[in-house]
Amino acid sequence: MKTVGLVGWRGMVGSVLMQRMSEEGDFAHFTPHFFSTSQAGEVGPNFGGTAAPLQDAHDIDALAALDIIVTCQGGEYTQQVHGALRARGWTGYWIDAASTLRMKEHALIILDPVNRPVIEQGLAAGVRDFVGGNCTVSLMLMALGGLFQAGWVEWVSAMTYQAASGAGAQNMRELLQQMGALYGAVATALDDPAGAILDIDRQVAETLRSATLPTGNFRGVPLAGSVIPWIDVPVEHGQSKEEWKGGAECNKILGLPPFRSPGSIPVDGLCVRVGAMRCHSQGLTIKLRRSVPLPEVEARIAEANAWVRVIPNEREASERFLTPAAVSGTLQVPVGRLHTLAMGPEYLGAFTVGDQLLWGAAEPLRRMLRLLLD
Ligand code: HSE
Repeated sequence: MKTVGLVGWRGMVGSVLMQRMSEEGDFAHFTPHFFSTSQAGEVGPNFGGTAAPLQDAHDIDALAALDIIVTCQGGEYTQQVHGALRARGWTGYWIDAASTLRMKEHALIILDPVNRPVIEQGLAAGVRDFVGGNCTVSLMLMALGGLFQAGWVEWVSAMTYQAASGAGAQNMRELLQQMGALYGAVATALDDPAGAILDIDRQVAETLRSATLPTGNFRGVPLAGSVIPWIDVPVEHGQSKEEWKGGAECNKILGLPPFRSPGSIPVDGLCVRVGAMRCHSQGLTIKLRRSVPLPEVEARIAEANAWVRVIPNEREASERFLTPAAVSGTLQVPVGRLHTLAMGPEYLGAFTVGDQLLWGAAEPLRRMLRLLLD
């Protein structure tokens, strides 16, 4: 059996990965070795029936003895360890959740329901570094893969509604603390059915702006009762890095020429943090190369993979099935609000939702591992 080193399995993405690997019986297919950056020597977890001591995640010799390494430890760890391992001559497979290596020529971005042929070509060509995509990009491609595969997409503009989990576990906690603080500030007034809503609102606004609201993880601003229209650091062209990833990664996943070069598909928009817990939503404007009848569009989307679901463009279905509340914790990727926009017959509107910890992070990694093992 192949040996697989697991690093960063205790964090939020790592925990979701372990849960999914247990659910799918993945541990029966390899010998796991659990590593830790801080608790080497302590008892490891017993996924897969082993509870061997944790090994040191910086022990290059121990890592180099493995066939495959799967890491959710983060970009800094990748930076420290990946190069050292390769420099030592390690030729195993590296599967990574962090963005550090994503755009490197020697690495592929993995999203096999969308780019399995690209992955297989890469394997045949000797690629050994496989990196999960940015969550928003992966979720958009899980939703619209069928349209890209049909060659119908001229460009896409994605306006995102990104959950707190994308910023980290502490941000999810802080969002809930903020919600609690806002409620706490007006709880008594809310109990009075005759309480004046504008007085309640004023109190909420004061609390939102108050120095006592916990905001440290969101760079000093509230998310509950508000939105944050900037995600990650600034890059060129007025974009945030999250927005840049849309174009850069989408084209790489699809095996197209680099973003902004001839033959690539323009993907751009605004990325916004909203008060959802772990599901990212996206409002999409899609310019098709030609007008395609809506039933054909829906059929292409629906047949692209086993997880995408076309939701009828109706009020009740959209309210019930096309929301973070409905999707959270599931692998389903609903796409709805599909209709031709007023700009012209080639302009398609759509809305999609997906769990950013599952298809947006953990799931492509475990599927790549199985691809290497099976
Ligand atoms: N960068 C994403 C976000 C999460 O901030 O929501 C990880 O892909």
